[in-house]
Amino acid sequence: MLLLFLAYALRVPLGLDNYVPAPASNPITKESAALGRKLFFDKRLSRDGTVSCATCHDPQYGFTDKHPKAVGIENNVGPRRTPRILNRAWGKRFFWDGRAPDLENQVAQPIANPSEMDMPVAKVVARLAAIDEYNGIDEKGMRFALASYVRTILAGNSPYDRYLAGDKSALTAEQQVGLNLFRGKAGCISCHLGPNLTDEGFHVTAAGAVDDDAGHSLVSFDDNDNAAFKTPSLRQVAATPPYFHDGSAKTLGDVIDHYAKGGKLRKNLDPEIRKFSITPEEKRALVKFLEALNGEIREGYPE
Ligand code: HEC
Ligand code: HEC
Repeated sequence: MLLLFLAYALRVPLGLDNYVPAPASNPITKESAALGRKLFFDKRLSRDGTVSCATCHDPQYGFTDKHPKAVGIENNVGPRRTPRILNRAWGKRFFWDGRAPDLENQVAQPIANPSEMDMPVAKVVARLAAIDEYNGIDEKGMRFALASYVRTILAGNSPYDRYLAGDKSALTAEQQVGLNLFRGKAGCISCHLGPNLTDEGFHVTAAGAVDDDAGHSLVSFDDNDNAAFKTPSLRQVAATPPYFHDGSAKTLGDVIDHYAKGGKLRKNLDPEIRKFSITPEEKRALVKFLEALNGEIREGYPE
């Protein structure tokens, strides 16, 4: 584990800490972020040249897409929903199950994954190294540049951020009711907290259509983590349905219904998932509050 972090003043939008963390071994530079950006949008990273990172993590769509489950090369459908990749510089572990300890390790996995880009990493590096614009790139250079670019993808300056910064008119009266529910009887804040509305932890919420995904227990080897998934950041959430690790909830209303019911019976259900009563007006207010988390997205090293 690298304990040393360098901090970058990337002019972050309102609501985030005023620096972007990066490991000392991979400082964000203008060059690395630009190289990572080029790689992120380059379909030559996939076996048949049809899929780039941005195919699934579409900047027009909060760096995710509209499919319930990821669609990769030759229209292969993967087992999980593509997450929004926003403010991931503050992430602690990556993927829904947390199997990647850092972004430098995470970024190589979709390239090699047979249902995503299907390109063994050594092959992709050989292919890219032969292209002039990549100038003899090596494996580490590719991974580190992609990680740097991912760290520059930031979301903030939402009505909620402006409200917290003191502009009380930034949230409507209804949204303020929703915020009180979020912090109060609905209990959302237990897990969706801080600048990114996530504890970056793993919880069993019993969300999902079928219980066929072992989640974080694949990584921790602890049965209590069976079907535990990472708490997603809620930034841009209202703009990017469907929801949950398997894309099984179509709307934010469906998500709230799931929580209000107290999830589903599971012996290892998180104690913070508890049944609560909610009127239709309150449900609407909570949805309106979640809409106030839509803000501004910035990516790349600022000019
Ligand atoms: C076919 C669609 C697809 C492509 C292509 C793809 N991803 Fe992903 N990405 C996903 C899915 C699905 C997950 C979650 C997988 C899981 O949890 O098992 C994910 C997870 C991630 C995460 C982790 C986010 C988090 O908070 O845990 C990052 C970062 C990421 N992808 C970056 C990339 C990069 C960089 C590329 C290109 C090299 C890429 N992805 C290509 C679908 C895709
Ligand atoms: C015990 C922790 C916990 C609590 C409490 C909690 N969440 Fe979550 N939330 C999670 C986890 C973990 C996930 C991912 C679950 C999955 O996909 O299987 C999630 C997913 C979501 C999603 C889907 C996001 C996406 O990108 O798919 C939304 C929206 C959401 N929660 C909103 C809420 C609201 C609103 C409340 C309060 C009513 C709430 N959460 C309470 C942990 C929690």
